[in-house]
Amino acid sequence: MISIIVAIAENYAIGRKGDLLCHMPEDLKHFKQITSGKTVMMGERTFFSLPKHPLPNRRNIVLTDVQGKAFEGAEAVYSLDEMINAVKGEEEAFVIGGGMVYRQMMEHADKLYITRIHHSWEDADTFFPEIKEEEWELTSAERHEADDKNPYAYTFCTYNKRNR
Ligand SMILES: NC(=O)c1ccc[n+]([C@@H]2O[C@H](COP(=O)([O-])OP(=O)(O)OC[C@H]3O[C@@H](n4cnc5c(N)ncnc54)[C@H](OP(=O)(O)O)[C@@H]3O)[C@@H](O)[C@H]2O)c1
Repeated sequence: MISIIVAIAENYAIGRKGDLLCHMPEDLKHFKQITSGKTVMMGERTFFSLPKHPLPNRRNIVLTDVQGKAFEGAEAVYSLDEMINAVKGEEEAFVIGGGMVYRQMMEHADKLYITRIHHSWEDADTFFPEIKEEEWELTSAERHEADDKNPYAYTFCTYNKRNR
């Protein structure tokens, strides 16, 4: 099964100038808890945007168009099909970004782990695609208020793909 995990602002923004929009330690903890021990798949830009790459305790797969390009500590794949095949048979593998890869993987994913950050960034340059009600069923939502370490209120949501 393939899942997507992402933090999305109110205006569907997810990134700016190659980086995340804000630092939310509770969301990073949540991300680590959900993905540890599993496979994480990402685009080349997201791989290099990680403060520490590859992500420890996870199988890292990086998607690139550049044939033969290699990534230290990670497996390279050169097409979407190759990436999907690389995780066939895994109980749950995660797409962790970025915008370009999320857009292409929505139709291949069965579950979404969305952190809704209750704030908007007008200067963002990377966005998540629309989560359509008719395609995705909200299965849980857990709201947390801002605190001294997490500057914005946020809600951990999960969605399952509806049977079509
Ligand atoms: N909010 C969040 O949860 C979250 C999570 C992750 C990332 N982000 C943010 O998202 C931004 C990065 O996203 P992005 O859209 O710019 O880049 P990206 O999706 O991380 O990576 C794009 C790169 O992936 C490769 N690629 C994508 N589709 C491909 C395909 N079908 N076949 C072969 N290669 C393919 C290409 O690499 P080559 O150029 O090497 O060919 C492409 O340039 C950053 O700002 C990051 O901080 C946010």
